[in-house]
Amino acid sequence: MADKIRWGVISTANIGRKRVLPAIQQSRNGELVAIASRNLDSAQAVADELGIPKAYGSYEALIADPDIDAIYNPLPNSLHAEWSIKCAEAGKPTLCEKPLASDAAEAQTMVDAFAERGVLFAEAFMWRFHPRSQRVKQMLDDGAVGDVHVISATFSFRLSDESNIRLSKALAGGSLMDVGCYCINAARFFTGEEPIDGQAFADWGATTGVEERLTAILRFESGVIAHFDSSLRSQKTHQYEIRGSKGRILVEDSFVPEASVETVIRYWHEGSYEAIKIDPANHYQIMVEDFADALSNNRPPKFLPQDGVNNMKVIDMLLAKARE
Ligand SMILES: NC(=O)c1ccc[n+]([C@@H]2O[C@H](COP(=O)([O-])OP(=O)(O)OC[C@H]3O[C@@H](n4cnc5c(N)ncnc54)[C@H](OP(=O)(O)O)[C@@H]3O)[C@@H](O)[C@H]2O)c1
Repeated sequence: MADKIRWGVISTANIGRKRVLPAIQQSRNGELVAIASRNLDSAQAVADELGIPKAYGSYEALIADPDIDAIYNPLPNSLHAEWSIKCAEAGKPTLCEKPLASDAAEAQTMVDAFAERGVLFAEAFMWRFHPRSQRVKQMLDDGAVGDVHVISATFSFRLSDESNIRLSKALAGGSLMDVGCYCINAARFFTGEEPIDGQAFADWGATTGVEERLTAILRFESGVIAHFDSSLRSQKTHQYEIRGSKGRILVEDSFVPEASVETVIRYWHEGSYEAIKIDPANHYQIMVEDFADALSNNRPPKFLPQDGVNNMKVIDMLLAKARE
């Protein structure tokens, strides 16, 4: 393997072009060597824009390139499994976008395909890598709010393009799949538990047939209740709040903070208030560096891919409840 992990990306997805590909290029242990698209001209255009040496007109051709050590998969949700499994079969370590698949059963087949072949696999849920998220987790583990009682979270924004993949049933869109999955991930990350029960109410798009707004409650064995909402049709907001017997933590701009800005943890503890400042950080870069280090050092990624299956189990449960 080369000194730096040589990355290839399958598709010209927005999230790649805007965030993850620049993060790979800035990473200390990786370089971006190739991009593939269903259309060679599209791949070449992004290769020219970002200075990527090779462009392919098919995902298969990139996966077959022996000079690529790792693949980033930012395809629409319904295609994560098919193409990640092709990467596994070719022995290519893969970082796949969230949510891991269309449902938990499909996600499990992906995790198994990589595990059987001993090939590295991880879900690109970047927000957990941000030093602020890590700090909040540490604070909770240290009892900063006493016993945790309630976690409340929200992630919504307004889509303007009706042809967006998030509004496609066939591509496994929906607000829970796209952004509510962060709120579930946060509740599971902060409690360290899987929910034992839940309820959800959803608003299904009349023309799209996907769930466009959803509100849910999750109950955990420890007694923690998490409630959250997600939307593809509402004013942009993303934040979470954790309230306990002795304190409260509020994190605004929680899931996709800009890499260049100092972020804040608002912390109330009994009679006092503190704004804890966290230095600017690029969570995409920290994530891809962790993946490349895991590959070079033959160790697991910081967050195991089974966590992605467990997150999908909660998504499946809440969508089933919302449909009832
Ligand atoms: N972690 C994050 O911060 C974050 C943020 C946004 C999105 N995401 C995730 O990243 C993934 C991509 O999201 P995005 O908004 O970047 O998507 P997007 O811009 O719509 O790109 C999806 C790409 O998939 C390829 N594709 C293959 N088959 C397709 C089909 N049938 N319909 C549409 N596109 C098809 C296309 O690339 P070619 O034409 O080049 O083949 C397209 O550019 C999703 O899983 C999403 O949940 C993660």
